[in-house]
Amino acid sequence: MMKIMESGKLNLAVLASGRGSNFDALCRAIEQKDLEAEIKILISDKKDAASLVKARRRGIDAFYIPPRNYRNRDEYEAVIVEKLRERGVNIVALAGYMRLVGKVFLDAYKNRILNIHPALLPSFPGLHAQKQAVEYGVRYSGCTVHIVDEGMDTGPIVMQSVVPVYQDDTEESLAERILAEEHKIYWRSLQYFAEGRVYLDGRKVYIAEK
Ligand code: GRF
Repeated sequence: MMKIMESGKLNLAVLASGRGSNFDALCRAIEQKDLEAEIKILISDKKDAASLVKARRRGIDAFYIPPRNYRNRDEYEAVIVEKLRERGVNIVALAGYMRLVGKVFLDAYKNRILNIHPALLPSFPGLHAQKQAVEYGVRYSGCTVHIVDEGMDTGPIVMQSVVPVYQDDTEESLAERILAEEHKIYWRSLQYFAEGRVYLDGRKVYIAEK
């Protein structure tokens, strides 16, 4: 069993490709002192990501880094890692970041990159998880915070929250119900890290008692 990090205020980086509602929820948790963290930087791979605007409005450094400016993923990630290190980032939250993370990034932040996925993993990984759940006909779905590994939504699970799926749900109505839970469990998961309570044993995550 291995402790992932000691307790202390988090120096957080957020990577987001889209609208940034999870980023906003993290900012609110920090403001309300539920989450002991400072967001040092937001990075997006999409030029028109609303999350970039949201971060700048809050006075957080925000960068659009276009992947196609680099020869390969290693070079692209080396640039990201450098920016994070310059700011003393010690943990990373992917929040709607629509890319697989590669070796350079994973090695630099081993077991310290988290992701949130809108399904109860290992069900419905990948894109359109809510649509997959509606079409499959499951009665419950939810969201998962997990540590990122080289796979697609495959890493060790930190926290999950369950929501019912109703017969008349659409992809949109289910996504909305799940999103409300995402906004509760992402900061809670990160706060476990801030409290130095997160241990890893193989692919199992243990949260120590306070
Ligand atoms: C969320 O549903 C999250 O679970 C998934 O991408 C979406 C991002 O939404 N990974 P937002 O940009 O945080 O609003």
